[in-house]
Amino acid sequence: MRNLESFFTPKSVAVVGASRDLNKLGSQILKNLIRSGFQGKIYPINPKASKIENLKSFPSVLAVPKAIDLAVIVVPAKIVPFVLEEIGQKGIKSVIVITAGFGEIGKQGEKAQEDLKKILEKYKLRIVGPNCLGTIDTRTPLNTSFASNFPLKSNLAVVSQSGAMCAAILDWALKNNVGFSKFISLGNKIDVDEVDLFPIFLEDKNTKVVLGYFEGINRGLEFIKEAQKLTFKKPLIAIKAGASKAGAKAASSHTGALATDNEALDAAFRKAGIIRVSSIEELFDFSEAFSSLSFPKDEYTAVLANAGGPAVLTTDALSFSFLKLAQFSKKTKDLLRKNLPEEASVLNPVDIVGDAPAERYKKALEIILKDKSVSSLIVLLTPQTSTEIEKTALAISKAGKIFKKPIVCSFIGGEEVEKGVKILEQNGIPNFEFPERAVKALSELVFYKNFKRSFQKIKNPKTLRDKKIEKVISKARKENRKILNDLETKKIIETLKIKTAGSKLVQTENEAVRIAKKFGFPVVLKILSSEILHKTEFGLVRIGLKNQENVREAFREILKNSKKHKLKFKGIVVYKSAKEGTEVIIGAKKDPVFGPVLMFGLGGIYVELLKDIVFGIAPISKKEADQMIKDIKGYRLLVGFRGQKPVNLKKVKDAILKISTLMLAFPEIKELDINPLKADSENVVALDTKIVLE
Ligand code: COA
Repeated sequence: MRNLESFFTPKSVAVVGASRDLNKLGSQILKNLIRSGFQGKIYPINPKASKIENLKSFPSVLAVPKAIDLAVIVVPAKIVPFVLEEIGQKGIKSVIVITAGFGEIGKQGEKAQEDLKKILEKYKLRIVGPNCLGTIDTRTPLNTSFASNFPLKSNLAVVSQSGAMCAAILDWALKNNVGFSKFISLGNKIDVDEVDLFPIFLEDKNTKVVLGYFEGINRGLEFIKEAQKLTFKKPLIAIKAGASKAGAKAASSHTGALATDNEALDAAFRKAGIIRVSSIEELFDFSEAFSSLSFPKDEYTAVLANAGGPAVLTTDALSFSFLKLAQFSKKTKDLLRKNLPEEASVLNPVDIVGDAPAERYKKALEIILKDKSVSSLIVLLTPQTSTEIEKTALAISKAGKIFKKPIVCSFIGGEEVEKGVKILEQNGIPNFEFPERAVKALSELVFYKNFKRSFQKIKNPKTLRDKKIEKVISKARKENRKILNDLETKKIIETLKIKTAGSKLVQTENEAVRIAKKFGFPVVLKILSSEILHKTEFGLVRIGLKNQENVREAFREILKNSKKHKLKFKGIVVYKSAKEGTEVIIGAKKDPVFGPVLMFGLGGIYVELLKDIVFGIAPISKKEADQMIKDIKGYRLLVGFRGQKPVNLKKVKDAILKISTLMLAFPEIKELDINPLKADSENVVALDTKIVLE
């Protein structure tokens, strides 16, 4: 956290480039700083002025007689290195560079950015930016940004790479009465990045929830580790822009093609306990729920409505969430029946029908919230002639305080419900325009609580480099090969103590027949090659060979195709066919940001069609491996579907963990597929493995 405090709680700030012209950013930043109520010393720096905004101005930071904690640079890009050098000489350690025109504009800007880095290293500076909006701390108070308005105080911290996004968030927040604790725009992240900030937010007693907008993450593993520490204590809700499929283009294995940047990011966020949202609307919905509500005891919720339609929509939304409808006790049902009109529905969801006045809501609220099986409540209201909107809002607010169970509302409508919504807001009850959004926000509270329960710090497993594996890889590298052949992959998989199918390399048709007879039919024939990865597509694999004639014919065909594709013939491998079992895939791919990404799913030829796959970031813990297995849709097939014997999940899990460790120990491996891994009730057998080196 070296010198990071000064970005939020400095005692003195210099604005380098504080302009005399009210329309310039330098002037706006100086004014914002003064208007924020900052109590420390402010030093405008401008070689052409002696006084700006009634403050004594200095030609350079070097002319300021006292020490300065933070400098904000707002001079054109070409002057930035010059003033930064002076800042270094002055001994100022924390710098915000608002100026744009660096890495974001291409080659020329990148060079200028590199020059800044050199000065940064020379003086051991901490720099936020360049190309950023600045920082805000509502408690200090401090505003080094040129955002037009100073936000209200609250317990939400925001970190955003994009300054424009920051400005939009600030504007939205003001309109919606949302405040912040700390606010920081990171810009080009020449130095300070989100990983640096997570510990600050963790320790900030004024921050309860953190919102993030990330465009590019550089330090993947540190990002996960620091985010984990934060999310164990405080929720981090993040939106990640620009997740592309670029990484998938160059991939050659199934895992390579399927483990896109986006999948890796999803897996990384999951590992770190980050709540990933897909829109700004969701970012604010969730932040509202997290910042104003306590966590429900469990997932069981109740729905109270004055209209059947929205109640049904809510129930539908619940089925896609982490929430479940609570089963009311008999006492609750009896009381509801006694106190509500006959046409009301007393089962969960409770429909107190369209003419419900506030008193009916009040009664129902009390009865429902008293039920021990109910941990949270969703209240819906549609405005009808007899609906008492404000009184109902007051009754909900009161019930929230008495029963201390989280309540979310959806007062559906426009102007008519506005006054009621205001009352709810004032009482810390989040209201959402539509019930689906209320369900989602409440559901995330349950998700986060469960994550905290299952939280596991990343433990780096022993990643011993097995000599036998090392030998296989270094031989291929010496021969300038990226694809390992079948005998090599088999060697690696067997070294990991994962069973492989019995196989034998043969050179002649007669030999193939002899081995096939020894193994027992059916057998599989496959070319031995490190030149081609997807052999089936080129007619270089034949499966299900039931007799001698099949084997001879397959041998000739593979030979013919290998000549057609001008492959160097090194022999054909005869494989024993595996017994019945369920085919799964275990794969891995090195992600440039997060390191090895593991993939697990239903395997065989359907991988890319069904895409029933899940991802995790190495090192995979036992718990994570368990969860990966449970998370695929085909999980039921693995635990015994329609009388089938369940597969040995322990062995499947072991195989996932072994591949995770292999990938960490051998960064030379770029992609790996075991597809299929045949799993039955006793064991797992790797039938086909592909390994591609960096
Ligand atoms: N030390 C201190 N001040 C200096 C200086 C020095 N060495 N050299 C010049 N200045 C003064 C100038 O005299 C001027 O003050 P004045 O108006 O009173 O004469 C002030 O610094 C600003 O310089 P100017 O040349 O007028 O620049 P500008 O205000 O037009 O532009 C930036 C400067 C930083 C605003 C502009 O380069 C920029 O980057 N704009 C984009 C910012 C942005 O969008 N950032 C990302 C947000 S997300």
